[in-house]
Amino acid sequence: MKDAYSNKGMSRLTVTGNPAKALREALEREGAGRVAVVTDSNVEEKVMPMFRDVTEECETIVIPAGEEYKTPETLIEVWRRLSGCGMTRSGLVVNIGGGVVTDLGGFAAATFKRGVRCINVATTLLGAVDAAAGGKTAVDLDGLKNEVGVFRQPVEVIISASPFSTLPERELLSGYAEMVKTALLTDEAFFHELLDARSVLGDPARLEGAMERCVRRKMEIVASDPEEKGPRKMLNLGHTAGHAFETLSHEKGRPMTHGAAVAAGLAVALRLSVERCGLDASISRDYEQRLLRPLYGDDWGLGGIVETDADRQRIVELMGHDKKNSRAGEPEFVLLREVGNPTVGGM
Ligand SMILES: NC(=O)c1ccc[n+]([C@@H]2O[C@H](COP(=O)([O-])OP(=O)(O)OC[C@H]3O[C@@H](n4cnc5c(N)ncnc54)[C@H](O)[C@@H]3O)[C@@H](O)[C@H]2O)c1
Repeated sequence: MKDAYSNKGMSRLTVTGNPAKALREALEREGAGRVAVVTDSNVEEKVMPMFRDVTEECETIVIPAGEEYKTPETLIEVWRRLSGCGMTRSGLVVNIGGGVVTDLGGFAAATFKRGVRCINVATTLLGAVDAAAGGKTAVDLDGLKNEVGVFRQPVEVIISASPFSTLPERELLSGYAEMVKTALLTDEAFFHELLDARSVLGDPARLEGAMERCVRRKMEIVASDPEEKGPRKMLNLGHTAGHAFETLSHEKGRPMTHGAAVAAGLAVALRLSVERCGLDASISRDYEQRLLRPLYGDDWGLGGIVETDADRQRIVELMGHDKKNSRAGEPEFVLLREVGNPTVGGM
């Protein structure tokens, strides 16, 4: 197991080949009284067996899998179960799952009895490199993503490639796009390393090393701006167009994963960065030729989604409505002057 570390006020991060052992140690370290596990129905079946020895004494709350259950109704059910099992403020909630579980379980923990500690154990690549760390928690409301939530850091984040053996390829690729985004916010050597995606994804030790770099970088950015008032916005690189592609894909009944939409959104951000911020054109070209097309398809994964002029018009409209824009109607792109040197809102 690699060294865990903690940032001031931030979560301890543990990257490990043995997440069950790491969880046991974390529970000992935290000295929690009552412990409840929140997970989803897929993870319960496919991943929880590896944690059984550690969690058998815990109350286990299984929510239905899928974004459509990241709702206030599910949250209320989790609160009821926490109350029913006698969870106290000195207890601990362990979220074992992808971003849906860590967002919803994190929100439940942050609000139950005005705040109970939580540990996030990521079981998807997207969860490991993005959702589990950083302290954003939320549920969706009436179809509006992450409409209600709070910022609250988990006490520990445990990430490992071990749970990924059962993760569908589509989910792995979804997380990979967020890794590449973070590499683009870090340095050129890291970006070039990730261009060789199949080797990174095929080697658990290498993947864990790359995941750790991503989470450390994210934590550094978050530590400088925990509540997204400024610099944290750089993490939205690729997301202005990405969110628009994702929304249109849902409108057309051909839902893309979040990461696949971000992968296409990164191509847009890199082309704009070349045009407007002087980014070296080879970065955008390498990204498209060596990563986007081989992993997500010649059509950037947008086939059947962005085809007509009306579709392109809808993308422009959706980018203007992105809720992360500072001014309504004006897309706020994160662009790069060079790899690792972003400009927020820059055009
Ligand atoms: N808080 C944040 O900073 C942040 C950042 C990015 C995304 N998110 C949120 O994360 C969510 C998306 O996360 P996600 O992509 O992990 O989705 P997810 O949690 O829905 O997981 C994807 C699917 O994989 C299944 N699964 C999870 N682990 C598995 C495993 N090891 N083997 C087999 N199946 C497994 C899940 O049951 C689900 O069906 C969204 O709700 C998004 O808003 C939050």
